[in-house]
Amino acid sequence: MTSKTLSIEGLTATAVIDGQRQILVDDLSLTVQQGRVMALVGASGSGKSMTCSAALGVLPPGVVKTLGHVTIDGVTHDAAALRGRHVATIMQNPRSAFNPVRTMRDHADETSRALGIPVSGAGDRIEDCMRAAGLEDVKAILGLHAFEMSGGMLQRMMIALALLSEAPFLFADEPTTDLDLVVQLRVLELLEKLVEERGLGVLLVTHDMGVVARLADDVVVLDHGRLVERASVVDIFHKPRHAITRTLVSAHLSLYGMELSA
Ligand SMILES: Nc1ncnc2c1ncn2[C@@H]1O[C@H](COP(=O)(O)OP(=O)(O)O)[C@@H](O)[C@H]1O
Ligand SMILES: [Mg+2]
Repeated sequence: MTSKTLSIEGLTATAVIDGQRQILVDDLSLTVQQGRVMALVGASGSGKSMTCSAALGVLPPGVVKTLGHVTIDGVTHDAAALRGRHVATIMQNPRSAFNPVRTMRDHADETSRALGIPVSGAGDRIEDCMRAAGLEDVKAILGLHAFEMSGGMLQRMMIALALLSEAPFLFADEPTTDLDLVVQLRVLELLEKLVEERGLGVLLVTHDMGVVARLADDVVVLDHGRLVERASVVDIFHKPRHAITRTLVSAHLSLYGMELSA
């Protein structure tokens, strides 16, 4: 398998807030490689989610992408073509992503239709993806509604729907933030396995440096929509350069009663 590279290049997104034009994502460039995890970190409000939304063309009303593009192996793709086919997504609150009156089977069928997967055979494929996402008793789960499932099960179902697309890249926006610690760990283990075994390239958005330490190969740090540091995960923890990075790492270490050296 040849490994693909997704590049976000010069991405800029703005909004008019209280009559003033504000830059929410400022000339941001980063790359995600298949088989690797790129973490996008920064304080709350630093523009992490906007970066993903702008790259995939799903910005909220009032926010516009003014510059930038996304390439895969050097070829520019428009946002609509990227979504689902090249880039699958999972989000922070899986519960809000599911229609409460629809079963998991309805969601799987809808995703299959949206991806153009023929209905014959789609059933087997979603069951395989659900097993790959660590769900057991898949036939029973397909009959459930979101309210009948735990947060961890729902996040696994989101991952199963993401796998259905066979997209080489996954944008995961705070995928474990709303889960309890044990379930967080299981979801992180699952993502790690999918990176290793399927060569998924992951853009992992998180404010949690524990998640970064566990999963990331490389890290970019955002502050007010600007990229302020880019380094390997080892250098981020051992040689953080920017004040923002140092603050994030120090806050993380203090949880364990440790301090940043030098
Ligand atoms: N719909 C919106 N319109 C205008 N500005 C927004 C909107 N949603 C979020 N913002 C602003 O965009 C900035 C970046 O937000 P976001 O990307 O959600 O941050 P993060 O994901 O890093 O916590 C924040 O300053 C936020 O207030
Ligand atoms: Mg966010």
